[in-house]
Amino acid sequence: MATRMRILRILGWTAGIVVCLLLILVIYVEMNWDAPQDRPVSDLRAPADSATIAQGEYIYKYQSLCWGCHADPSAESAADPGAFPQPSGGFLFDLRNAGPGFGLWYSRNITSDAGTGIGEWTDGEIVQALREGIAKKRTLFPIMPIDWYHGMADEDLLALAAYLRTLPPVQNKVPDNEPSLFAKALFTFGMLKPKEATTEPVIRPQREITPEYGKYLANNLAGCADCHTPRNLQNGQFYYDSLFAGSSFAYGEDEGAPMISFAGNITPDMETGIGTWSEEQFITAVTAGVLPDGSVLTTHMPYAYYKFWSPEDLKAVYAYLQTVAPIRRTVPDSRLVADLSSAQSVERGAILFKARCQACHGRNSRGAPPTNVSLAEVSASLSDAELMEFISTGEMSLNMPGFAKTLSDKEVSDVVVFIRSIETK
Ligand code: HEC
Ligand code: HEC
Ligand code: HEC
Repeated sequence: MATRMRILRILGWTAGIVVCLLLILVIYVEMNWDAPQDRPVSDLRAPADSATIAQGEYIYKYQSLCWGCHADPSAESAADPGAFPQPSGGFLFDLRNAGPGFGLWYSRNITSDAGTGIGEWTDGEIVQALREGIAKKRTLFPIMPIDWYHGMADEDLLALAAYLRTLPPVQNKVPDNEPSLFAKALFTFGMLKPKEATTEPVIRPQREITPEYGKYLANNLAGCADCHTPRNLQNGQFYYDSLFAGSSFAYGEDEGAPMISFAGNITPDMETGIGTWSEEQFITAVTAGVLPDGSVLTTHMPYAYYKFWSPEDLKAVYAYLQTVAPIRRTVPDSRLVADLSSAQSVERGAILFKARCQACHGRNSRGAPPTNVSLAEVSASLSDAELMEFISTGEMSLNMPGFAKTLSDKEVSDVVVFIRSIETK
């Protein structure tokens, strides 16, 4: 009896100590996770000439697609549907169910509004946010591809800063992030930390059709490496020994999109990669979304924006990808996850439109940034047969892909039924 009591007492103490230690740990994490990063900020200054601003705009809109994450989803520009939305922030990344759970994160307002945006930041502070992942002493959660932006040249970072300053200020107070305890622990114990400080100037490679320049584009400016490289889904780390061997997760799944797709293997492997593709086939896939077999990529691959790249930039990326290590790795095909079986024609058309057309034609087909055309309007002057014909063959010169190899006649006709239904609303 006495021994039993003693054991129970010891057990009680042990449990008590464990609970206390856990509490102390939680308190420690809560107090320390957002400790300010007191690192010097560079005094780099952005030139404000028109060539610099144009370079910043090109990177912002077509190469890094900054606006895609920084647009406020609630502020759909109804008045000007084809316009790029302002980067006033608030796009929610709900990572509560990603891996062990990282909480709720919002993109920030990067317009020049003084109170809610970055109007009062210095150029050096903007550079530090992108290159080191420190935003006014705060360590950023790595949703923005800082691992890759880290190698961005001074010239391009400053061009981005110069361009951001030309955008109109939009007052929009983005909600505070809600990191999970796990995310806070990662910050506290240094698993999530800023990139090392850059102390030397980073020079942009010459704009020439060379693997060196292509490497800079594919890794540091455009997100090719970020989307196309597999990673460890528990801690988000990239497998750098498998550069460009394809994503480890499906794009579209987190947002509940009707269609999901894995970023493919774009190493020069002959069977599972793009080793047999000609430069022309590569450029057609990257700028028009059309593969050598005639099928159309999902718009999770931002080809609609890559069509605005200069030919040298595209060729340089091709030249570079030819030189990376070929890796044998297959990713699953894209697939429709929405259930079409019980839907009516118009509902099926709506789902297919969302999966296949919306990224370019906008919600309710009013036009999205790359495609300033209202389908409801133009389709009024076309017969059903003409519409079906156009959707099936497309018009490469306009960057409208043809869907004959991707959608069945029945599916195209469902989409037409849907487009007609918008017109009458
Ligand atoms: C994949 C999405 C994504 C892309 C692409 C992206 N960002 Fe971000 N960015 C974010 C998120 C999310 C945050 C906030 C993270 C946090 O709060 O910890 C952020 C933070 C920032 C910040 C810090 C703002 C602040 O108030 O703390 C700046 C500046 C910024 N981004 C600029 C840019 C620029 C310029 C580009 C293009 C080169 C870009 N971003 C591309 C998602 C993105
Ligand atoms: C936001 C993520 C994202 C970015 C950024 C991105 N891709 Fe993709 N890419 C994808 C996805 C997803 C697919 C697959 C789409 C599908 O299966 O329909 C894809 C497909 C491709 C394909 C076709 C591969 C095949 O075998 O079918 C090529 C080639 C390609 N991307 C090249 C590039 C290049 C070059 C860049 C940079 C300039 C780039 N991608 C940037 C997500 C991305
Ligand atoms: C990569 C972007 C992209 C995708 C994806 C896309 N379109 Fe288009 N579409 C365009 C562009 C660009 C135009 C030409 C706009 C213009 O005339 O300036 C166009 C034009 C059209 C037109 C003809 C308008 C006219 O001027 O006669 C129709 C109809 C159309 N698209 C339907 C669709 C349907 C349906 C889908 C989905 C199955 C789709 N598009 C997917 C970019 C796209």
